[in-house]
Amino acid sequence: MPNVFSIPWWKKTTVYQIYPRSFYDSTGNGIGDLQGIISKLDYIKELGIETLWFSPYYDSPQRDFGYDIRNFRDIAPEYGSLADAEQLIKEIHDRGMKIVMDMVLNHTSEEHSWFKESRSNKDNPKRDWYIWRDGKKPNGKAPPTNWYSQIGGSGWQYDSTTDQWYWAAFLPFQPDLNYRNPAVQTEMLDTMRFWLDKGVDGFRLDILGSLFEDSEFRDNPFCFKLLPSESDPGMLFQSAEMTINHPDTLEFTKKLRELTDEYRPARFLVGEVLGSYETIRKFCGESGIEGIHSVFQFQTLEAKFGYDGFGSLLHQSEKWFPDPFIPTWAFSNHDCTRRISILGNNLDKAKLVAAFQFTVRGVPYTYYGEEIGMQQVKISINEAKDGLALFYKKFPNFILKIMQKMFHGAIYRDGCRTPMQWSGLGSGSESGSGNNYAGFSPSPVDPWLPVDSEYPRINVDEQKKDPDSILNCYRRFLAIRRQYPALHAGKMDVFDPKTLPSKILGYKRTALVNGVEQKLYVFLNFNKGVVQFPSLFENPKLIASTTILSQPIGGSQITLQPLEVIVVSREKQK
Ligand code: NOJ
Repeated sequence: MPNVFSIPWWKKTTVYQIYPRSFYDSTGNGIGDLQGIISKLDYIKELGIETLWFSPYYDSPQRDFGYDIRNFRDIAPEYGSLADAEQLIKEIHDRGMKIVMDMVLNHTSEEHSWFKESRSNKDNPKRDWYIWRDGKKPNGKAPPTNWYSQIGGSGWQYDSTTDQWYWAAFLPFQPDLNYRNPAVQTEMLDTMRFWLDKGVDGFRLDILGSLFEDSEFRDNPFCFKLLPSESDPGMLFQSAEMTINHPDTLEFTKKLRELTDEYRPARFLVGEVLGSYETIRKFCGESGIEGIHSVFQFQTLEAKFGYDGFGSLLHQSEKWFPDPFIPTWAFSNHDCTRRISILGNNLDKAKLVAAFQFTVRGVPYTYYGEEIGMQQVKISINEAKDGLALFYKKFPNFILKIMQKMFHGAIYRDGCRTPMQWSGLGSGSESGSGNNYAGFSPSPVDPWLPVDSEYPRINVDEQKKDPDSILNCYRRFLAIRRQYPALHAGKMDVFDPKTLPSKILGYKRTALVNGVEQKLYVFLNFNKGVVQFPSLFENPKLIASTTILSQPIGGSQITLQPLEVIVVSREKQK
């Protein structure tokens, strides 16, 4: 059993994702900002989170809200300045937390000076920094290959300045950098160094699997698949073999790892990679030390709630990411429908998901507002601000309807990016107290996206007061996760389902702490009713439950309320 103290921090940590535009607006212009985030760091610390990941706040025209970067070494003025970013790093470290920035290696904004130069003429020194090709004959007016972008349709964009096409794996205004050009690799590794030198503890790597494409520009082959899924990016009857998860991208991850390995204390990388477990695991190298440190397992986003769905997640995760690999657990993020709304806004289910995340082996990711049960907000495509909404608006209605069904209504992403709900105070005109829009902004200027009308009930202040709130459930589970090495660094053994009643998922977490074995037992009740079963040992001690209404347990029985999760131990443990 590994010594829990020798395990690196990034394998034991808990991560909270902040969407800067929506967290807290300190200036009153309706847009969240860095000083706003700084003023809320104590909240995150008290919640019990250890690491913060920020969606991008670099200089950007904001057509994809920061994922279209104009300057990787500066900050968007509406969010603050470089000095604010440095202060943010310091304030996070002063509180004993870590900071992970988003790094968009794959592409830039079309407004980046590199692209402006590149598109200006074929002889420009920056021409080869992006991927330019002649169109197909006749007259070069058809795209160079059949390659689709990740959002559907050809990813090739015609540019009349030089009568050539550039490749964009995501939206048309996000041209892909050419990683076959060594100068691009050097520049982007230096960009990461720029932030690592400022003390950043790691990066979340945006669409990492798209860095390299086929060098011979061969067409993608046909496949029987209409819509993409998290585990297979092929779509519209085309596999993504030539465009996604190319072997040269895997090779490049070694350079990323070498870069972070130069730094002490340890830094870490988590990659956004689409594909099956087998494919995404390859990004972490053969033995977990040559590639990036971890990847998102987006299978979590597709998993059906229930014993079978979660049991299978656990089984697959352990199969493909056994120690020394480390699984990641994210159920919501800035690109998909908030999980609680997929669960019918059922708080007990949301608490169960959280307790699962915080007690299984791996690193849990919480998306801002998830801890108070913030819901998906309905925003019509005409009111939406997301670049995807503007792109899809052109599609026929019936196609949109099918897509919306497939993606739980989230083909554009405004609904999961609404302002954080800090308090029950309303709009400027209602409160006049200098604390407006659910406490998001100090002034009566409309926020960039509407606040969920459920804010009087779903907000931080209210939930702090209620011991049985989802917020307090998060706090309890985060607290025990920090307290018990068995939970944050221990080994995991999943119980044979035959030894437990139907639809009870159970696992044991074990760690050696100062020579003493610490054991915790976790049971999740996926049933709609109360379940009682004999305990494995006498007098189990309750360490935590998702509900404060949990029946005291003792004697030789364990009782679980509907959808309850409990953590128990055999005897009193420190
Ligand atoms: C994936 C990010 O998560 C998403 O928000 C972004 O729009 C695309 N990559 C393009 O950078």
